[in-house]
Amino acid sequence: MYSYDPGAGHGLAHDPLKTIIGPRPIGWIGTRSAQGVRNLAPYSFFNVVNDTPPVLMFCSSGYKDSVANIEATGCFTWSLVTRDLAVAMNATSAPVPAAIDEFELAGLAARPGEVVAADCVADAAVAMECRMISVQRLHDASGRPLDGWLTLGEVVRVHIDPACLVEGGFVLPPGREPVLRGGGPAAYYAPDARVRFEMTRPQ
Ligand SMILES: Cc1cc2nc3c(=O)[nH]c(=O)nc-3n(C[C@H](O)[C@H](O)[C@H](O)COP(=O)(O)O)c2cc1C
Repeated sequence: MYSYDPGAGHGLAHDPLKTIIGPRPIGWIGTRSAQGVRNLAPYSFFNVVNDTPPVLMFCSSGYKDSVANIEATGCFTWSLVTRDLAVAMNATSAPVPAAIDEFELAGLAARPGEVVAADCVADAAVAMECRMISVQRLHDASGRPLDGWLTLGEVVRVHIDPACLVEGGFVLPPGREPVLRGGGPAAYYAPDARVRFEMTRPQ
């Protein structure tokens, strides 16, 4: 086995964990600053971690604008990245000053939240509005603080493009497959329905 202690480095060209735990869904997080500047950024340390109510989480490596805005305003949005929005999503990952509106930067129309003071990507097939539950600074197993910031938010409103509602189920149209982050410097995936398989749980 190739074995290593992550604290001492992996010794490879790219962090293998980013490929091994993947492909990962993308948290495209919309926020506003205390001054009202719109912000949008992708986070692949992201997931949904509860059923009712749904709770979204993402983790920022460093105290980034999204986290600062959520602490200032108490809310955020999530928008689904589909294949048609991949290039725009990537543009919103640019390290720009907090005063720059990243919706404008990426040429994206924004739709204000209905119940929170943050904006969704207007063309996203699905968007959710969230109220902040907590922002926690991570620490390691010996209690040493890390520069990782775990944000949890309760989903308080969900928006689905009616074109995705087919016979009572949710189906993304061709060309609008969800974009997933692979590892390495630039890998992404978009699921192909032909590789789908089904498996029922043991009773
Ligand atoms: C697909 C993708 C996934 C990313 N995932 C993360 C992540 O999980 N955590 C993180 O800190 N940065 C992540 N980044 C980098 C941030 O998007 C980038 O630092 C961005 O500028 C942060 O914006 P903000 O300061 O407006 O929050 C990711 C970038 C891309 C393109």
